[in-house]
Amino acid sequence: MTQGVLWGGRFASGPTEVMFALSKSTQFDWRLALLDLRGSAAHANALHQAGLLTDDEWHALTEGISELARLVEAGDFTPSPTDEDVHGALERGLTDLLGPDVAGRLRAGRSRNDQIATLIRMWLREALDALSADLRDLIRALADQAEANLGVAMPGRTHMQSAQPILLSHHLLAHAWPLVRDLDRIQGLQSRLSVSPYGSAALGGTTLGLDPVAVAHELGFSDCVENSIDGTSSRDLVAEAAYIAAQVGVDLSRLAEDVIFWCTQEVSYATLADEWSTGSSIMPQKKNPDVAELARGKAGRLIGNLAGLMTTLKGLPLAYDRDLQEDKEPIFDSLDQLTVLIPAMAGMVGTLRFHPERMETQAGAGFALATDVADALVRRHVPFARAHEIAGEAVRYCEARGIDLTDLTADQVGEISGELDESVLSVLTVHGAVEARNGKGGTATPRVREQLERLRTSLANR
Ligand code: ARG
Repeated sequence: MTQGVLWGGRFASGPTEVMFALSKSTQFDWRLALLDLRGSAAHANALHQAGLLTDDEWHALTEGISELARLVEAGDFTPSPTDEDVHGALERGLTDLLGPDVAGRLRAGRSRNDQIATLIRMWLREALDALSADLRDLIRALADQAEANLGVAMPGRTHMQSAQPILLSHHLLAHAWPLVRDLDRIQGLQSRLSVSPYGSAALGGTTLGLDPVAVAHELGFSDCVENSIDGTSSRDLVAEAAYIAAQVGVDLSRLAEDVIFWCTQEVSYATLADEWSTGSSIMPQKKNPDVAELARGKAGRLIGNLAGLMTTLKGLPLAYDRDLQEDKEPIFDSLDQLTVLIPAMAGMVGTLRFHPERMETQAGAGFALATDVADALVRRHVPFARAHEIAGEAVRYCEARGIDLTDLTADQVGEISGELDESVLSVLTVHGAVEARNGKGGTATPRVREQLERLRTSLANR
């Protein structure tokens, strides 16, 4: 048998070099090595419990596994070119330490199929905890900016056109809530991930009387799977993690797009901190929003990983198929990308310097108070359809004269329509418009302050 390959008895010759190169996965599955050793320790306990290891063998295996874990952690044991995968490499390492008589007992009653299905869940549980922590930091950065700038009005846009004045804080928090929902998604997935496939063996379970629930508990899972075929062959939870990563990518990309827009010279609502932007090799004046652009760019990659993985899973017959090895690179990549991206986004958001005076002067521009004119008429019992028309006429009147609604004099108001009078002018202020939107979820300052408190409370409770 070739070293580091866990089969061979029924083969007259080993795989060709090309076959081996195709099959080999240590270049990406080695990151699961310590988790595999934790699984092995739990499995050794199960074998001992079932009377399949003597006390001496069990002690030797347990010691050997700990020693190998120390070597792996220190970087003193690594895969060799002849190792097919992480499991083969580790068995080679254990055999070197303990000899084949003891090391060769560990493989009883388990298969790489249940091992790998368990390891990917263990890895995801840790990676998703780290993702949650990073998301919280970013949400806090958004909340802190919302708090620091509370009361600053800015233009609210739909279709990218001036729509209504809103608070900058309201807009910033609108980017925080989707990330809170991503935290919820992670929490939901974590409960589904807390079920261990170990003990399913190749597909039907094991004949050796091992206790999969004990192994599950030892590995920090709350239970073992109900169905060994499902346990070894499903990767829906990996796909779900890839979806969450893609959704986070989309959420970050939308935030990124706003930051890029705000920092354009023409808009100038905000300026990036030097340490979170880059320059140009040729144009000395440039300050580029690369963090935000990379966020926008990586969203595509994260969606691609999800689409690729789901396409791999589609149409696979039960139970384990080697296609399933293709789950690892996309999910590792998605979570690796977010590991570098989210802290950078938090840094960029946290250090963004807003220009309140600039936003305030723009907040009412582009006839953004037209809805308020119509609403003022509705309060005087004019039907909204008619009020909409009158406000529209006011916009047309102003447009023809190159002025905005806020520039109208009492005389001009009367000229536009008999149903309008100067009392309507009293609603034509940016902050009047903002504070008037005072239902729950609205942009009025007290509502946004409450919203901010609820956001912070919901973060503390997650
Ligand atoms: N490297 C494989 C994977 O990632 C491990 C399981 C392989 N099982 C097998 N029977 N070849 O899915």
